[in-house]
Amino acid sequence: MSITFETGCFHLKTAHTSYVFELADGKYPVHLYWGPSVRAVHDTMITRLTRFTEESFSLHEQSLDSLPLECPAFGGSDLRPGMLHLIHSNGTHALDLVYESHKIIPGKPEIPGMPSASGEGAETLIVTLRDQPSKLSVELFYTIWPDLDVLARRIRIHNSGDLPVFVEQAMSVSVDFEAADMDLLTLSGAWAREREPFRRPLYPGIQGVSTERGASSLQTSPFMVLLSRDATETSGEAYGFALCYSGSFAATVNVDQFGMARASMGINPFNFRWKLTSGSSFDTPDAYLLYSSQGLGEMSRRYHAFIHKRITRGLFANKCRPILINNWEATYFDFNEDKLLSLAACAADVGIDLFVLDDGWFGKRNSDHCSLGDWVDDLNKLPHGLRHLSDAIHGLGLKFGLWVEPEMISPDSDLYRAHPDWCIHVEGRERLECRNQLVLDLTRKEVRDYIVAAITDALTRGNVDYVKWDMNRNISMWGADLPADQQQELGHRYILGLYEIMTRITGQFPNVLFESCASGGGRFDLGILCLMPQTWCSDDTDAWMRCRIESSTSLLFPPSAMGAHVSAVPNHQTGRLTPLATRAAVAMCGTYGYELDLQKLTAEELDMIREMNKRVHEWQPTLFYGDFYRLKNPYESNEAAWMSVSSDRREAIVTHVYAQAFPHQKPKLLRLTGLDPALDYQDTETGLVYGGDELMQRGYPLRAAWNDYMSQQIHLLAR
Ligand code: GLA
Repeated sequence: MSITFETGCFHLKTAHTSYVFELADGKYPVHLYWGPSVRAVHDTMITRLTRFTEESFSLHEQSLDSLPLECPAFGGSDLRPGMLHLIHSNGTHALDLVYESHKIIPGKPEIPGMPSASGEGAETLIVTLRDQPSKLSVELFYTIWPDLDVLARRIRIHNSGDLPVFVEQAMSVSVDFEAADMDLLTLSGAWAREREPFRRPLYPGIQGVSTERGASSLQTSPFMVLLSRDATETSGEAYGFALCYSGSFAATVNVDQFGMARASMGINPFNFRWKLTSGSSFDTPDAYLLYSSQGLGEMSRRYHAFIHKRITRGLFANKCRPILINNWEATYFDFNEDKLLSLAACAADVGIDLFVLDDGWFGKRNSDHCSLGDWVDDLNKLPHGLRHLSDAIHGLGLKFGLWVEPEMISPDSDLYRAHPDWCIHVEGRERLECRNQLVLDLTRKEVRDYIVAAITDALTRGNVDYVKWDMNRNISMWGADLPADQQQELGHRYILGLYEIMTRITGQFPNVLFESCASGGGRFDLGILCLMPQTWCSDDTDAWMRCRIESSTSLLFPPSAMGAHVSAVPNHQTGRLTPLATRAAVAMCGTYGYELDLQKLTAEELDMIREMNKRVHEWQPTLFYGDFYRLKNPYESNEAAWMSVSSDRREAIVTHVYAQAFPHQKPKLLRLTGLDPALDYQDTETGLVYGGDELMQRGYPLRAAWNDYMSQQIHLLAR
């Protein structure tokens, strides 16, 4: 048993960690420890406080306000911001959640309506607490995967009373750290520069990140790390929190009067209120917690392993992915069948596997002003229909992929003319468009059914092998087809509706590779990743910007999850010129593809692409499923570098990029990591041999940069 209950203490043991809490007074779950494995915790909070006050500690007389709690709720004697806030039908908030029972079960119960990690190899503890007067119960779910060192937490609230209760706040997790001398790392950004890392010391009060946009968003990510002040990439303590959710979330840390830090994460309580009718339950999404004693690098590698083994599923889990070409930056909306086929022929010639037809193939969509919702072939561009194009592309030996944006509706569309009430809107108010489109109300069953039928039809008609599922605007002017006292359920119900349609559609096409997208990485989260194994990382395809974005995205996500393409120069987002070899090297840190008109390249460049494609096929098992090490941080220096090492440590692939070139520099040494010090490695390009110890202690001798954005890929094989 990896979860035990002895002398009033729950102990959750993974390969390298312990998570311990007690039942104080037999009533309240009080946090005791989370960190490297210990055999047991003897000094409980109660014994400690008794010693401190020199008299028997009684929770009846003293408040919970000074204790580290597992389920802090507003309405009792803990006066700090908590994880739960409920309003009873009489308008009062009081809540006294007391231990009732617990059970330990193998596996992991599924969360109704929400994606979550697979329960293979897991064990789950469910602690039930009850507020007697209201008959409400709260179940605390703790799941561990002992071999993967991950702890999942979530809660379920059940209303056994006769009257409805309003859930104002229900976070998935709350952990009270006894000392706040830590740093907080979160990711924030914007379109085309997603997920920049920000690290700052904790200070008294509330800090953190959140989004109110109805999506996990371009602006931030449902992920945070608490770090010991001395923590680096390779040393120090890191406590990771990652939410398995795609909607508005909050991830906060509150430092209290005693210098304790309360970290919590879950659905954003802002613009959220759930009517919990008699007999019904509310489930929060999962949060995945992970401790590393060896800095951020080890934390990331453990998250990557967890994502590969328990999040990504279906045919493409733990598999290499096809090299694709997407026509978006090559043609935008300006294409016809001939143009697509000549691009596809060129792609087949250089060894690309999959041709993806992006936006503009349906309705009369020659710009982003119309047709979303009308998933019918545009016979002006494709006179013989989608199937004819798909057959021709398959005939070239390529797979065929298609772009869709199922959640949206253009006011200029047949769908809108037939169902003007199907979008999110407030009656009597202007319908605020963004990118000339409105958002469909996924709380409505008829809308969900329409989407499933229309998209199923398009994917069947196109005989597709791949789908890019896009989402290009956030919700504004919130109004759904719900009663007044349930309007604030829209955000969560939208996400439940989204998960339902994604589950239905992906379930019907088990052999199709799905990639999610939201104006780039605007919904890059573990929830979607349970349903679609890769996400378009960013609309920014500039190689240097991608060094930054991919490197910080890798804090949580592995290369196998990050869509990355080689695009044209000057780059369409930054105007920057970078060498083709660098664009390819950087895209190899992701699922790899192209997004440019190959026909405009020289014969020499096409030869290089042929070589790169061979390289990708050969190296991808290690690039994707090896251990990933960040070596140089592009947010802090003129260089970016990372490497992947196969699990047997016999193969390593290193990528190094210089931003600006500085003339007359001595070639530098780059210290590698993760190799076997006792092995000798051969550089497959130069044939030179180095010791693993030498490469890690002294370093690999890099070429000097004589041009901006030069890069080097080093392939090492053990001899
Ligand atoms: C979004 C995506 C792009 C492209 C366009 C098409 O911006 O992120 O990759 O598909 O939509 O309209």
